[in-house]
Amino acid sequence: MAALFSPRSNRLFRGALLVAAVLVVAIPIGIMVWVRTPAVTGRGRGAKQPIPFDHRIHVTGLRIDCRYCHNTVEREASAGLPATTTCVSCHSALWLSGPLFAPVRRSLATDRPIPWQRVDRLPDFVYFNHAIHLKGGVACESCHGRVDRMAEVRQAAPLTMSWCLDCHRNPEPRRRPAAAVTAMGWHSDPEPDHPVPLSPARRAAITTCTACHR
Ligand code: HEC
Ligand code: HEC
Ligand code: HEC
Ligand code: HEC
Ligand code: HEC
Repeated sequence: MAALFSPRSNRLFRGALLVAAVLVVAIPIGIMVWVRTPAVTGRGRGAKQPIPFDHRIHVTGLRIDCRYCHNTVEREASAGLPATTTCVSCHSALWLSGPLFAPVRRSLATDRPIPWQRVDRLPDFVYFNHAIHLKGGVACESCHGRVDRMAEVRQAAPLTMSWCLDCHRNPEPRRRPAAAVTAMGWHSDPEPDHPVPLSPARRAAITTCTACHR
């Protein structure tokens, strides 16, 4: 009687098993690598803004403090985006002419905010709070990078859970005196007045799940 399967199909079957075994390992590893790539985390990504607002002109050139425009950052969970009146305090009626400033004029006429597009964004199930970080001596620069050098703001950090936890497990080297939290390019030597180190209880509290998932 002729064999149901030729000897060749044995080889094919073994080959297929090997390919399946490799895929079982490679696919999860591939996914784990992929979710950490900038294409997924959004690191380096910017957003198309209604007005090409340039932090270099305003922060480096005019030396305006971050808190002048992001004025809830020390008090509230959110940093806040500037009200149109904040721009108008400098950009007077005369200076607001031309197509570049059309969204500002529209905002003033309709009494609606300029539709700034968000760059950094966490999923809704994560709790984040700017005020706690600023009080804890964590600088804007540590999470947002050198905004003073950005023509267009880009997401500087991956904003993944492991990124948050890397700092929460060992925050001391990343903390600064309160006066330096909005400074860009700040150096700590000889380290004048480092904030009081966090207590062990506080260190434990910021690494528990419920700190960020409430
Ligand atoms: C403290 C004063 C001040 C505030 C507040 C301010 N600006 Fe400016 N802005 C300036 C100055 C000064 C320049 C530089 C003008 C130049 O060099 O031609 C400028 C330049 C600009 C330019 C580039 C203008 C051009 O012709 O290329 C834009 C756009 C702009 N500002 C938008 C804004 C917006 C939007 C806000 C509010 C979020 C704002 N500014 C808040 C003072 C200010
Ligand atoms: C004159 C006003 C002004 C000042 C001063 C200013 N910003 Fe902004 N900032 C804006 C405006 C307007 C936007 C929204 C448009 C954009 O993204 O460029 C913005 C956006 C941002 C964003 C992106 C927010 C998001 O959607 O994720 C970050 C981060 C930021 N600013 C950080 C800073 C830091 C850090 C400083 C101080 C070093 C600073 N800004 C100073 C006006 C200002
Ligand atoms: C510990 C990291 C961290 C620090 C420090 C920090 N930010 Fe943020 N910032 C974030 C994250 C994360 C988001 C996105 C928050 C969300 O989606 O809920 C954000 C969002 C923003 C936004 C968008 C609007 C908003 O309120 O969500 C602005 C503007 C901003 N930050 C400015 C600043 C400025 C200015 C400072 C310093 C004075 C600062 N941030 C310090 C992590 C940080
Ligand atoms: C560069 C360091 C650093 C990074 C990055 C950072 N944090 Fe923090 N975070 C701290 C420090 C330091 C404290 C404690 C401040 C204090 O107690 O004074 C803190 C406190 C907190 C608290 C308050 C917890 C409580 O129980 O009061 C929350 C919530 C939090 N962080 C969320 C986040 C999230 C979410 C991220 C990532 C998106 C993040 N943090 C990234 C340094 C950081
Ligand atoms: C310092 C803040 C922080 C702490 C503490 C923290 N997380 Fe998260 N977690 C995040 C952030 C930010 C994200 C969203 C970004 C991401 O998916 O990496 C997240 C996402 C998640 C997700 C969704 C994962 C996914 O791929 O979508 C789960 C599940 C989770 N966390 C569970 C936990 C558990 C369990 C703990 C305690 C062992 C914990 N987290 C502690 C910040 C935190």
